[in-house]
Amino acid sequence: MESIPIIILLHSGETWGVVSACPFHCVCRNLSESLSTLCADKGLLFVPPHVDRRTVELRLADNFITEVGGNDFVNMTGLVDLTLSRNTIHQIRPMAFADLESLRSLHLDGNRLTTLGPKDLAGLTNLQHLIVNNNQLVKVSVEAFDDFLLTLEDLDMSYNNLRRVPWESIQNMASLHTLNLDHNLIDHIAEGVFGELYKLARLDMTSNRLRTLPPDPFFTGAISPTPYNAVISLNFGGNPLHCNCELLWLRRLIRGDDMETCATPTHLAGRYFWSIPEEEFTCEPPLITRHTHKLWVLEGQRATLKCRAIGDPEPIIHWVSPDDRIVSNSSRTSSFSNGTLDILVTVARDDGAYTCIAINAAGEATAAVDLKIIPLPHRGGVQAGFLNDIWDIQSQYKETTLP
Ligand SMILES: *[C@@H]1O[C@H](CO)[C@@H](O)[C@H](O)[C@H]1NC(C)=O
Ligand SMILES: *[C@@H]1O[C@H](CO)[C@@H](O)[C@H](O)[C@H]1NC(C)=O
Ligand SMILES: *[C@@H]1O[C@H](CO)[C@@H](O)[C@H](O)[C@H]1NC(C)=O
Ligand SMILES: *[C@@H]1O[C@H](CO)[C@@H](O)[C@H](O)[C@H]1NC(C)=O
Repeated sequence: MESIPIIILLHSGETWGVVSACPFHCVCRNLSESLSTLCADKGLLFVPPHVDRRTVELRLADNFITEVGGNDFVNMTGLVDLTLSRNTIHQIRPMAFADLESLRSLHLDGNRLTTLGPKDLAGLTNLQHLIVNNNQLVKVSVEAFDDFLLTLEDLDMSYNNLRRVPWESIQNMASLHTLNLDHNLIDHIAEGVFGELYKLARLDMTSNRLRTLPPDPFFTGAISPTPYNAVISLNFGGNPLHCNCELLWLRRLIRGDDMETCATPTHLAGRYFWSIPEEEFTCEPPLITRHTHKLWVLEGQRATLKCRAIGDPEPIIHWVSPDDRIVSNSSRTSSFSNGTLDILVTVARDDGAYTCIAINAAGEATAAVDLKIIPLPHRGGVQAGFLNDIWDIQSQYKETTLP
Protein backbone atom coordinates (compact mmCIF):
# COMPACT_ATOMS: atom_id res chain seq x y z
CA MET A 1 0.00 0.00 0.00
CA GLU A 2 2.82 2.40 0.89
CA SER A 3 4.26 1.96 -2.61
CA ILE A 4 1.59 4.13 -4.25
CA PRO A 5 3.59 6.89 -5.96
CA ILE A 6 3.34 10.13 -4.03
CA ILE A 7 2.95 12.02 -7.29
CA ILE A 8 -0.46 10.53 -7.87
CA LEU A 9 -1.51 11.31 -4.35
CA LEU A 10 -0.54 14.94 -4.60
CA HIS A 11 -2.55 15.11 -7.77
CA SER A 12 -5.41 16.16 -5.55
CA GLY A 13 -9.05 15.91 -6.38
CA GLU A 14 -11.36 18.84 -6.01
CA THR A 15 -10.49 21.05 -3.07
CA TRP A 16 -12.03 23.88 -1.22
CA GLY A 17 -10.03 26.08 1.09
CA VAL A 18 -6.40 25.36 1.81
CA VAL A 19 -5.79 21.65 1.93
CA SER A 20 -2.32 20.22 1.86
CA ALA A 21 -3.02 16.74 0.44
CA CYS A 22 -6.11 14.97 -0.68
CA PRO A 23 -6.15 11.33 -1.80
CA PHE A 24 -6.60 10.86 -5.52
CA HIS A 25 -10.25 10.99 -6.59
CA CYS A 26 -11.41 12.05 -3.14
CA VAL A 27 -12.94 15.38 -2.32
CA CYS A 28 -11.44 17.34 0.56
CA ARG A 29 -13.11 20.34 2.12
CA ASN A 30 -11.75 22.65 4.72
CA LEU A 31 -14.83 24.47 5.82
CA SER A 32 -15.11 26.32 9.11
CA GLU A 33 -11.61 25.10 9.90
CA SER A 34 -12.52 21.45 10.02
CA LEU A 35 -11.33 19.18 7.30
CA SER A 36 -13.57 16.61 5.64
CA THR A 37 -12.16 13.90 3.43
CA LEU A 38 -14.87 12.45 1.24
CA CYS A 39 -13.92 9.24 -0.52
CA ALA A 40 -17.24 7.43 -0.78
CA ASP A 41 -17.85 5.26 -3.83
CA LYS A 42 -14.44 5.77 -5.43
CA GLY A 43 -13.57 2.14 -6.13
CA LEU A 44 -10.96 2.11 -3.36
CA LEU A 45 -9.43 -1.24 -2.47
CA PHE A 46 -7.86 0.00 0.76
CA VAL A 47 -7.86 3.05 3.01
CA PRO A 48 -5.82 5.68 1.13
CA PRO A 49 -2.52 6.08 2.99
CA HIS A 50 -2.13 9.82 2.48
CA VAL A 51 -5.24 11.12 4.13
CA ASP A 52 -4.46 14.37 5.92
CA ARG A 53 -4.03 13.38 9.56
CA ARG A 54 -5.91 16.50 10.65
CA THR A 55 -9.12 15.34 9.03
CA VAL A 56 -12.22 15.54 11.20
CA GLU A 57 -14.58 13.63 8.98
CA LEU A 58 -13.58 10.70 6.79
CA ARG A 59 -16.05 9.02 4.50
CA LEU A 60 -15.02 5.76 2.90
CA ALA A 61 -18.41 4.09 2.35
CA ASP A 62 -19.29 2.08 -0.76
CA ASN A 63 -15.77 1.05 -1.71
CA PHE A 64 -14.08 -2.36 -1.86
CA ILE A 65 -11.89 -2.08 1.24
CA THR A 66 -11.25 -5.59 2.56
CA GLU A 67 -9.39 -4.90 5.76
CA VAL A 68 -8.72 -2.17 8.31
CA GLY A 69 -4.95 -2.15 8.57
CA GLY A 70 -2.91 -1.28 11.63
CA ASN A 71 -1.65 2.05 10.19
CA ASP A 72 -4.71 3.19 8.27
CA PHE A 73 -5.84 5.71 10.87
CA VAL A 74 -2.64 6.36 12.74
CA ASN A 75 -2.27 9.89 14.22
CA MET A 76 -5.82 10.90 13.31
CA THR A 77 -6.41 12.17 16.79
CA GLY A 78 -8.92 14.79 15.68
CA LEU A 79 -11.16 12.45 13.66
CA VAL A 80 -14.75 12.65 14.86
CA ASP A 81 -16.70 10.81 12.18
CA LEU A 82 -15.58 7.69 10.32
CA THR A 83 -17.75 5.91 7.79
CA LEU A 84 -16.68 2.55 6.40
CA SER A 85 -20.16 1.31 5.51
CA ARG A 86 -20.75 -1.13 2.66
CA ASN A 87 -17.22 -2.24 1.91
CA THR A 88 -16.02 -5.84 2.12
CA ILE A 89 -14.11 -5.54 5.37
CA HIS A 90 -13.62 -8.94 6.95
CA GLN A 91 -10.92 -8.03 9.40
CA ILE A 92 -9.89 -5.21 11.68
CA ARG A 93 -6.30 -5.29 12.86
CA PRO A 94 -6.13 -5.07 16.65
CA MET A 95 -5.44 -1.47 17.76
CA ALA A 96 -6.18 -0.13 14.24
CA PHE A 97 -8.35 2.61 15.78
CA ALA A 98 -6.10 3.20 18.78
CA ASP A 99 -5.30 6.84 17.92
CA LEU A 100 -8.90 7.88 17.32
CA GLU A 101 -9.44 9.37 20.74
CA SER A 102 -11.89 11.99 19.43
CA LEU A 103 -13.99 9.62 17.34
CA ARG A 104 -17.68 9.81 18.18
CA SER A 105 -19.21 7.90 15.38
CA LEU A 106 -18.00 4.71 13.69
CA HIS A 107 -20.00 3.16 10.87
CA LEU A 108 -18.97 -0.36 9.91
CA ASP A 109 -22.34 -1.60 8.67
CA GLY A 110 -22.65 -3.68 5.53
CA ASN A 111 -19.28 -5.41 5.76
CA ARG A 112 -18.14 -9.00 6.28
CA LEU A 113 -16.93 -8.96 9.84
CA THR A 114 -17.34 -12.26 11.66
CA THR A 115 -15.76 -11.34 14.98
CA LEU A 116 -15.00 -8.31 17.11
CA GLY A 117 -11.89 -9.22 19.07
CA PRO A 118 -10.80 -7.76 22.42
CA LYS A 119 -8.51 -5.09 20.87
CA ASP A 120 -10.28 -4.43 17.56
CA LEU A 121 -11.99 -1.29 18.85
CA ALA A 122 -9.43 -0.37 21.49
CA GLY A 123 -8.65 3.31 22.00
CA LEU A 124 -12.03 4.74 21.02
CA THR A 125 -12.40 6.46 24.35
CA ASN A 126 -15.09 8.91 23.24
CA LEU A 127 -17.18 6.73 20.96
CA GLN A 128 -20.91 7.42 21.06
CA HIS A 129 -22.28 5.62 18.01
CA LEU A 130 -21.15 2.18 16.95
CA ILE A 131 -22.95 0.83 13.91
CA VAL A 132 -22.04 -2.74 12.89
CA ASN A 133 -25.33 -4.03 11.53
CA ASN A 134 -25.44 -6.22 8.42
CA ASN A 135 -22.17 -8.03 8.96
CA GLN A 136 -21.69 -11.75 9.64
CA LEU A 137 -20.76 -11.43 13.30
CA VAL A 138 -20.78 -14.67 15.25
CA LYS A 139 -18.61 -13.60 18.15
CA VAL A 140 -18.14 -10.36 20.02
CA SER A 141 -15.50 -10.42 22.71
CA VAL A 142 -16.48 -9.35 26.22
CA GLU A 143 -13.61 -6.82 26.15
CA ALA A 144 -14.44 -5.41 22.70
CA PHE A 145 -16.36 -2.41 24.09
CA ASP A 146 -14.22 -1.77 27.17
CA ASP A 147 -12.85 1.63 26.12
CA PHE A 148 -16.24 3.25 25.53
CA LEU A 149 -18.57 1.60 28.02
CA LEU A 150 -19.44 4.93 29.59
CA THR A 151 -19.72 7.06 26.43
CA LEU A 152 -21.60 4.80 24.01
CA GLU A 153 -25.14 5.97 23.29
CA ASP A 154 -26.06 3.94 20.30
CA LEU A 155 -25.12 0.33 19.52
CA ASP A 156 -26.44 -1.36 16.42
CA MET A 157 -25.50 -5.01 15.91
CA SER A 158 -28.68 -6.01 14.08
CA TYR A 159 -28.67 -8.38 11.10
CA ASN A 160 -25.73 -10.50 12.16
CA ASN A 161 -25.39 -14.16 13.17
CA LEU A 162 -24.99 -13.63 16.88
CA ARG A 163 -26.14 -16.38 19.18
CA ARG A 164 -24.67 -14.62 22.17
CA VAL A 165 -23.91 -11.03 22.96
CA PRO A 166 -21.65 -9.89 25.80
CA TRP A 167 -24.38 -8.88 28.23
CA GLU A 168 -21.65 -8.54 30.88
CA SER A 169 -20.32 -5.46 29.10
CA ILE A 170 -23.60 -4.15 27.68
CA GLN A 171 -24.99 -3.90 31.20
CA ASN A 172 -22.28 -1.36 32.04
CA MET A 173 -23.04 1.02 29.16
CA ALA A 174 -24.31 3.78 31.38
CA SER A 175 -25.10 6.23 28.54
CA LEU A 176 -26.75 3.72 26.22
CA HIS A 177 -29.86 5.10 24.61
CA THR A 178 -30.54 2.74 21.69
CA LEU A 179 -29.69 -0.93 21.43
CA ASN A 180 -30.48 -2.77 18.21
CA LEU A 181 -29.94 -6.52 18.33
CA ASP A 182 -32.74 -7.56 16.02
CA HIS A 183 -32.35 -10.25 13.36
CA ASN A 184 -29.75 -12.37 15.09
CA LEU A 185 -29.87 -15.83 16.70
CA ILE A 186 -29.83 -14.65 20.31
CA ASP A 187 -31.53 -17.13 22.63
CA HIS A 188 -30.86 -15.57 26.00
CA ILE A 189 -31.14 -12.24 27.77
CA ALA A 190 -29.25 -12.28 31.04
CA GLU A 191 -31.34 -11.38 34.05
CA GLY A 192 -30.89 -7.87 35.41
CA VAL A 193 -28.81 -6.48 32.53
CA PHE A 194 -30.98 -3.39 32.17
CA GLY A 195 -30.80 -2.51 35.86
CA GLU A 196 -28.29 0.32 35.45
CA LEU A 197 -29.11 1.37 31.90
CA TYR A 198 -31.13 4.37 33.02
CA LYS A 199 -30.89 6.11 29.65
CA LEU A 200 -32.02 3.17 27.53
CA ALA A 201 -35.04 4.25 25.51
CA ARG A 202 -35.07 1.85 22.57
CA LEU A 203 -34.44 -1.87 22.54
CA ASP A 204 -35.03 -3.95 19.45
CA MET A 205 -34.82 -7.73 19.88
CA THR A 206 -37.08 -8.59 16.93
CA SER A 207 -36.50 -11.89 15.13
CA ASN A 208 -34.16 -13.70 17.42
CA ARG A 209 -34.48 -17.08 19.15
CA LEU A 210 -35.71 -15.94 22.51
CA ARG A 211 -38.03 -18.45 24.15
CA THR A 212 -38.47 -16.34 27.24
CA LEU A 213 -37.70 -12.91 28.68
CA PRO A 214 -36.31 -12.51 32.19
CA PRO A 215 -38.69 -10.73 34.59
CA ASP A 216 -36.77 -7.48 34.42
CA PRO A 217 -38.27 -4.20 35.71
CA PHE A 218 -37.05 -2.68 32.44
CA PHE A 219 -39.66 -4.65 30.48
CA THR A 220 -42.35 -3.77 32.96
CA GLY A 221 -41.54 -0.08 32.52
CA ALA A 222 -41.30 -0.45 28.77
CA ILE A 223 -44.63 -2.19 28.38
CA SER A 224 -46.69 -0.44 31.02
CA PRO A 225 -45.16 3.00 31.35
CA THR A 226 -46.20 5.00 34.40
CA PRO A 227 -46.04 8.77 34.65
CA TYR A 228 -42.73 8.22 36.42
CA ASN A 229 -40.89 6.31 33.74
CA ALA A 230 -40.35 7.52 30.23
CA VAL A 231 -41.94 5.72 27.34
CA ILE A 232 -39.52 3.12 26.08
CA SER A 233 -39.68 1.54 22.68
CA LEU A 234 -39.41 -2.23 22.98
CA ASN A 235 -39.73 -4.74 20.16
CA PHE A 236 -39.46 -8.49 20.58
CA GLY A 237 -41.81 -9.87 17.93
CA GLY A 238 -40.60 -12.75 15.81
CA ASN A 239 -39.19 -14.76 18.68
CA PRO A 240 -40.30 -18.34 19.42
CA LEU A 241 -41.83 -17.50 22.79
CA HIS A 242 -42.56 -20.43 25.07
CA CYS A 243 -45.77 -19.33 26.73
CA ASN A 244 -45.72 -21.07 30.10
CA CYS A 245 -46.01 -19.80 33.67
CA GLU A 246 -42.57 -18.22 33.45
CA LEU A 247 -44.02 -15.60 31.07
CA LEU A 248 -47.11 -14.92 33.14
CA TRP A 249 -45.50 -11.76 34.59
CA LEU A 250 -45.20 -10.43 31.04
CA ARG A 251 -48.72 -11.36 30.08
CA ARG A 252 -50.01 -9.51 33.15
CA LEU A 253 -48.68 -6.26 31.76
CA ILE A 254 -50.90 -4.23 29.52
CA ARG A 255 -49.64 -3.81 26.00
CA GLY A 256 -51.34 -2.37 22.97
CA ASP A 257 -52.02 -4.22 19.76
CA ASP A 258 -48.60 -5.77 19.42
CA MET A 259 -48.08 -8.80 17.29
CA GLU A 260 -45.98 -11.12 19.44
CA THR A 261 -47.04 -14.74 19.13
CA CYS A 262 -46.35 -17.94 21.03
CA ALA A 263 -44.37 -20.75 19.40
CA THR A 264 -44.84 -23.35 22.12
CA PRO A 265 -46.43 -25.22 23.88
CA THR A 266 -48.18 -26.77 20.91
CA HIS A 267 -51.71 -25.86 21.99
CA LEU A 268 -50.74 -22.16 22.03
CA ALA A 269 -48.59 -22.18 18.90
CA GLY A 270 -49.26 -19.26 16.61
CA ARG A 271 -51.65 -17.49 18.96
CA TYR A 272 -51.21 -13.82 19.77
CA PHE A 273 -49.44 -13.50 23.09
CA TRP A 274 -51.60 -10.63 24.33
CA SER A 275 -54.87 -12.35 23.51
CA ILE A 276 -54.24 -15.59 25.43
CA PRO A 277 -55.93 -15.61 28.86
CA GLU A 278 -53.57 -15.62 31.81
CA GLU A 279 -54.87 -19.00 32.98
CA GLU A 280 -53.41 -20.64 29.91
CA PHE A 281 -49.86 -19.67 30.85
CA THR A 282 -49.21 -22.84 32.83
CA CYS A 283 -46.29 -24.96 33.91
CA GLU A 284 -46.06 -28.66 34.69
CA PRO A 285 -44.29 -29.71 37.88
CA PRO A 286 -41.52 -32.27 37.42
CA LEU A 287 -42.36 -35.93 37.08
CA ILE A 288 -39.57 -38.44 37.39
CA THR A 289 -40.14 -40.93 34.61
CA ARG A 290 -37.18 -43.25 34.91
CA HIS A 291 -34.49 -43.78 37.47
CA THR A 292 -32.03 -46.33 38.78
CA HIS A 293 -33.57 -48.10 41.76
CA LYS A 294 -30.71 -50.11 43.11
CA LEU A 295 -27.17 -50.50 41.89
CA TRP A 296 -24.48 -52.89 43.11
CA VAL A 297 -20.92 -52.00 42.25
CA LEU A 298 -17.63 -53.50 43.16
CA GLU A 299 -15.48 -51.08 45.12
CA GLY A 300 -13.16 -49.18 42.77
CA GLN A 301 -15.46 -49.54 39.79
CA ARG A 302 -17.53 -46.89 38.15
CA ALA A 303 -21.14 -46.28 39.24
CA THR A 304 -23.60 -44.52 36.96
CA LEU A 305 -26.88 -43.43 38.57
CA LYS A 306 -29.59 -42.25 36.22
CA CYS A 307 -32.65 -40.14 36.71
CA ARG A 308 -34.94 -38.71 34.05
CA ALA A 309 -37.69 -36.20 34.56
CA ILE A 310 -40.17 -34.32 32.44
CA GLY A 311 -41.93 -31.06 33.20
CA ASP A 312 -42.43 -27.56 31.89
CA PRO A 313 -40.07 -25.77 32.16
CA GLU A 314 -37.59 -28.60 31.76
CA PRO A 315 -36.55 -29.67 35.26
CA ILE A 316 -33.02 -29.33 36.56
CA ILE A 317 -31.78 -32.48 38.29
CA HIS A 318 -29.61 -32.56 41.39
CA TRP A 319 -28.31 -35.49 43.36
CA VAL A 320 -28.13 -35.63 47.14
CA SER A 321 -25.58 -38.02 48.63
CA PRO A 322 -26.21 -40.37 51.59
CA ASP A 323 -24.68 -37.74 53.89
CA ASP A 324 -27.27 -35.19 52.70
CA ARG A 325 -25.10 -33.05 50.48
CA ILE A 326 -25.75 -31.93 46.93
CA VAL A 327 -23.28 -33.82 44.79
CA SER A 328 -21.15 -31.40 42.79
CA ASN A 329 -18.57 -32.07 40.11
CA SER A 330 -15.22 -33.24 41.34
CA SER A 331 -12.33 -35.26 40.05
CA ARG A 332 -14.26 -38.40 41.00
CA THR A 333 -17.88 -37.41 40.33
CA SER A 334 -19.75 -35.76 37.46
CA SER A 335 -23.34 -34.64 37.80
CA PHE A 336 -24.70 -34.06 34.28
CA SER A 337 -27.64 -31.88 33.43
CA ASN A 338 -29.42 -34.84 31.81
CA GLY A 339 -29.71 -36.39 35.26
CA THR A 340 -26.81 -38.82 35.11
CA LEU A 341 -24.50 -39.03 38.11
CA ASP A 342 -21.17 -40.67 37.39
CA ILE A 343 -18.90 -41.83 40.19
CA LEU A 344 -15.74 -42.78 38.37
CA VAL A 345 -13.92 -44.75 41.04
CA THR A 346 -16.18 -45.82 43.88
CA VAL A 347 -14.98 -46.09 47.46
CA ALA A 348 -16.68 -47.78 50.42
CA ARG A 349 -18.13 -44.51 51.77
CA ASP A 350 -20.09 -43.93 48.55
CA ASP A 351 -22.44 -46.67 49.75
CA GLY A 352 -25.92 -45.56 50.76
CA ALA A 353 -29.20 -43.97 49.75
CA TYR A 354 -29.00 -41.23 47.12
CA THR A 355 -31.83 -38.88 46.22
CA CYS A 356 -32.50 -37.55 42.77
CA ILE A 357 -34.28 -34.18 42.95
CA ALA A 358 -35.93 -32.69 39.87
CA ILE A 359 -36.83 -29.01 40.22
CA ASN A 360 -38.56 -26.46 38.03
CA ALA A 361 -40.61 -23.29 38.45
CA ALA A 362 -43.72 -25.34 39.22
CA GLY A 363 -42.34 -27.65 41.89
CA GLU A 364 -40.08 -30.58 42.55
CA ALA A 365 -40.04 -34.37 42.60
CA THR A 366 -37.69 -36.80 44.26
CA ALA A 367 -36.68 -40.43 43.84
CA ALA A 368 -34.53 -42.65 46.04
CA VAL A 369 -31.64 -44.61 44.58
CA ASP A 370 -29.72 -47.20 46.55
CA LEU A 371 -26.04 -47.62 45.81
CA LYS A 372 -24.37 -50.73 47.26
CA ILE A 373 -20.61 -50.79 47.20
CA ILE A 374 -19.31 -54.33 47.49
CA PRO A 375 -16.05 -54.02 49.37
CA LEU A 376 -13.02 -55.74 47.94
CA PRO A 377 -11.44 -58.22 50.32
CA HIS A 378 -8.38 -56.25 51.31
CA ARG A 379 -6.51 -59.10 52.98
CA GLY A 380 -5.71 -62.50 51.62
CA GLY A 381 -6.36 -63.72 48.12
CA VAL A 382 -9.52 -63.04 46.17
CA GLN A 383 -11.30 -66.23 45.40
CA ALA A 384 -12.54 -66.72 41.92
CA GLY A 385 -15.96 -67.85 43.14
CA PHE A 386 -16.47 -64.70 45.16
CA LEU A 387 -15.73 -62.49 42.16
CA ASN A 388 -18.02 -64.49 39.93
CA ASP A 389 -20.85 -63.95 42.39
CA ILE A 390 -20.28 -60.25 42.22
CA TRP A 391 -20.28 -60.20 38.44
CA ASP A 392 -23.56 -62.12 38.55
CA ILE A 393 -25.11 -59.54 40.83
CA GLN A 394 -23.86 -56.73 38.60
CA SER A 395 -25.14 -58.22 35.41
CA GLN A 396 -28.57 -58.51 36.96
CA TYR A 397 -28.75 -54.75 37.28
CA LYS A 398 -31.16 -53.21 34.88
CA GLU A 399 -32.38 -49.70 34.71
CA THR A 400 -35.86 -50.01 36.12
CA THR A 401 -38.79 -47.97 34.98
CA LEU A 402 -41.53 -46.44 37.03
CA PRO A 403 -45.07 -47.00 35.81
C1 LIG B 1 -8.07 24.90 6.99
O1 LIG B 1 -8.12 26.28 6.82
C2 LIG B 1 -7.61 27.04 7.90
C3 LIG B 1 -7.80 28.51 7.56
O2 LIG B 1 -9.14 28.74 7.24
C4 LIG B 1 -6.17 26.74 8.12
O3 LIG B 1 -5.68 27.44 9.24
C5 LIG B 1 -6.01 25.26 8.34
O4 LIG B 1 -4.63 24.93 8.46
C6 LIG B 1 -6.62 24.48 7.21
N1 LIG B 1 -6.58 23.08 7.53
C7 LIG B 1 -6.13 22.16 6.72
C8 LIG B 1 -6.16 20.78 7.20
O5 LIG B 1 -5.69 22.43 5.64
C1 LIG C 1 2.54 9.78 13.47
O1 LIG C 1 3.09 10.63 14.44
C2 LIG C 1 4.39 10.26 14.83
C3 LIG C 1 4.84 11.18 15.95
O2 LIG C 1 4.41 12.48 15.73
C4 LIG C 1 5.33 10.32 13.61
O3 LIG C 1 6.61 9.90 13.99
C5 LIG C 1 4.77 9.39 12.54
O4 LIG C 1 5.57 9.50 11.36
C6 LIG C 1 3.34 9.74 12.22
N1 LIG C 1 2.84 8.74 11.29
C7 LIG C 1 2.05 9.05 10.27
C8 LIG C 1 1.65 7.93 9.38
O5 LIG C 1 1.65 10.18 10.08
C1 LIG D 1 -20.56 -31.04 35.68
O1 LIG D 1 -19.79 -31.03 34.49
C2 LIG D 1 -20.54 -31.30 33.31
C3 LIG D 1 -19.58 -31.32 32.14
O2 LIG D 1 -18.45 -32.05 32.44
C4 LIG D 1 -21.60 -30.24 33.12
O3 LIG D 1 -22.39 -30.57 31.98
C5 LIG D 1 -22.47 -30.21 34.35
O4 LIG D 1 -23.40 -29.14 34.23
C6 LIG D 1 -21.64 -29.99 35.61
N1 LIG D 1 -22.52 -30.12 36.75
C7 LIG D 1 -22.58 -29.21 37.73
C8 LIG D 1 -23.51 -29.51 38.84
O5 LIG D 1 -21.92 -28.21 37.71
C1 LIG E 1 -25.87 -37.83 30.02
O1 LIG E 1 -24.82 -37.05 29.55
C2 LIG E 1 -23.54 -37.66 29.68
C3 LIG E 1 -22.50 -36.66 29.25
O2 LIG E 1 -22.92 -35.92 28.16
C4 LIG E 1 -23.49 -38.95 28.85
O3 LIG E 1 -22.24 -39.57 29.02
C5 LIG E 1 -24.59 -39.87 29.32
O4 LIG E 1 -24.65 -41.01 28.51
C6 LIG E 1 -25.95 -39.17 29.28
N1 LIG E 1 -26.91 -40.05 29.91
C7 LIG E 1 -28.12 -40.30 29.40
C8 LIG E 1 -28.97 -41.21 30.18
O5 LIG E 1 -28.47 -39.79 28.35
